[in-house]
Amino acid sequence: MALAVKGLEGIVAAETKSSFIDGEKGILEYVGIAIDDLARNSTFEETVFLLWNNRLPNKAELDEFTGMLRDRYELPPGMEQRLVALPTSAQPMHVLRTMVSALSMHDLEPNKVDLPSARRKALNILGHVPTLIAYFDRYRRGLPLVHPRKDLSFAANFLYMLNGKEPTPAMVRAFDICMILHADHGLNNSTFTARVIISTLSDMYSAITGAIGSLRGPLHGGANEEVMEMLGEIEKLAKEQGKDAMEVIEPYIMDRLKRKERIMGFGHRVYKTIDPRATFLKTFSKQIAADTGNLKLYEMSSKIEQIMAREVGSKGIYPNVDFYSATTYHSIGLKLDLFTPMFAMSRVSGWAAHCLEQLADNRLFRPAAAYIGPHAVAYAPIEKR
Ligand code: SDX
Repeated sequence: MALAVKGLEGIVAAETKSSFIDGEKGILEYVGIAIDDLARNSTFEETVFLLWNNRLPNKAELDEFTGMLRDRYELPPGMEQRLVALPTSAQPMHVLRTMVSALSMHDLEPNKVDLPSARRKALNILGHVPTLIAYFDRYRRGLPLVHPRKDLSFAANFLYMLNGKEPTPAMVRAFDICMILHADHGLNNSTFTARVIISTLSDMYSAITGAIGSLRGPLHGGANEEVMEMLGEIEKLAKEQGKDAMEVIEPYIMDRLKRKERIMGFGHRVYKTIDPRATFLKTFSKQIAADTGNLKLYEMSSKIEQIMAREVGSKGIYPNVDFYSATTYHSIGLKLDLFTPMFAMSRVSGWAAHCLEQLADNRLFRPAAAYIGPHAVAYAPIEKR
């Protein structure tokens, strides 16, 4: 029996038309369209249509899809009461995992998994997730819930529900771009999780719930929160030493590297050059940070990037999508523990795209394990153990 390929590194476990990644050249495409072109020209709603239909929509199709999504902004009756019964101290990713799972109780065909019902459920979840996150954040802050507005786009409506006021066009654009950049990314851990679950012909709610559990992990989507925590730690250290943050970055990073600690927001299983999403976010975060008085965070991030390029660039360790999304989300005014829920809000679209692909040409995932334990062991009675 062959020995296990740890982490399934390099193993092709599925075929997809959704996203293409060239880790050597730093290329990411959604259905063949370069991520930069989509970030500059598309909207999240249009990108979701692209991922779920393998082509861009015409105007009528986009208007219809957008309308169906907006019809699902509001939660099913009873969900609000369930949400505000949760402890205000609950962690947002745990709340999201729990509440997406609870959504299935309101579905009249919870176990149906043919393609049309899977699409319907995916749209339900995508429409409800921003509302669940915004409602919980308002509730835990002791603020009145702000109900969704169907006249607002996905990005604008989320920021409106979260802050209780209409966001500026610049904020909406920034958030919409972040949603586009995080939508899909090949067979990452959470997407693989979703495909594994749906391959048993379980339902879309179960698949997305499992994927949320995976994304929370700090080695995966949870890294963006850890990046922000690291920047905060550096600022605190500088204050304690009575120095400028820029002065303590070098010793801080070098010390952590010496201890073989991972610097969050760097490295990637596939990219061995800079993640193209990080490239786009780096430029973007500088602009949004400058506009919002957070330029220092950007400068700190840029200095960390220079040190890491010098120290571990030769090992193919470069910034990934999480590194500059931290500064971007902070500059938009999002609380740190909402960063990973933002990632999940966008990635619901990629998870669903892959589930639809899996259902269209399904084979139950059931890999082998290399048994390395003993054989022919006699059963010893308890008094003899
Ligand atoms: C995402 O898969 C996807 O596509 C994910 C994602 C998506 O869109 O879905 O792109 C989103 O999850 C981005 C990654 C976010 N995670 C982090 O930023 C956490 C920090 N990064 C790492 O833990 C790590 O880089 C991984 C988990 C992302 C990838 O790790 P691998 O492929 O398992 O690589 P490895 O652990 O085998 O490391 C190889 C070497 C090791 O050194 P040596 O033991 O060979 O001397 O590189 C070193 C590692 O110590 N290394 C790092 C490092 N990441 C790897 N050293 C310092 N800092 C880091 N961040």
